[in-house]
Amino acid sequence: VVEVRIYEEEDEAAVVALWREVFPDEPAHNVPEEVIARKLGVQRELFFVAVEGDVIVGTAMAGYDGHRGWVYAVAVKPSHRRRGVGAALMARVEVALRAAGCPKLNLQVRASNRQAVAFYEKLGYAVEDRVSMGKLFSGDD
Ligand SMILES: CC(C)(COP(=O)(O)OP(=O)(O)OC[C@H]1O[C@@H](n2cnc3c(N)ncnc32)[C@H](O)[C@@H]1OP(=O)(O)O)[C@@H](O)C(=O)NCCC(=O)NCCS
Repeated sequence: VVEVRIYEEEDEAAVVALWREVFPDEPAHNVPEEVIARKLGVQRELFFVAVEGDVIVGTAMAGYDGHRGWVYAVAVKPSHRRRGVGAALMARVEVALRAAGCPKLNLQVRASNRQAVAFYEKLGYAVEDRVSMGKLFSGDD
């Protein structure tokens, strides 16, 4: 039985290991321990893990900025895929964001990640005609 619950401090090592396994090509600025530390300072109640017994098998990290919700780091352990864990994580995110008054959830997927697009389409998400832009704050300028 897989349960979705809010992230707790003692989950850190397992979540870091899961992300390193699922997202091996993350850019250098996404250091997992730093990502987690920042999230614990901002809406930490929107950071979820899926657990089977005491094993972490999935994550989803969401936020609501007052206009849109966003979700990141939706990840399921390869050994536990196609069992509804990803869908359960997204359902929990949606419930939490709706409860906060959020009218729409956005997310980004790498254009090459067809499996993730298929997953989100199954859950009712549509590919929208947008260009994704970003600016990295280096921290010293
Ligand atoms: C995308 C991901 C989170 C899906 O997790 P999951 O637990 O396997 O998903 P679910 O079992 O809840 O799948 C729900 C439905 O989505 C669709 N789906 C899921 N994975 C799919 C795939 N690889 N190909 C096609 N459809 C897929 C199916 O319709 C599935 O229902 P079904 O199994 O009854 O056919 C998981 O594959 C993953 O961690 N991928 C790597 C990380 C990633 O790409 N994250 C998203 C971008 S940040």
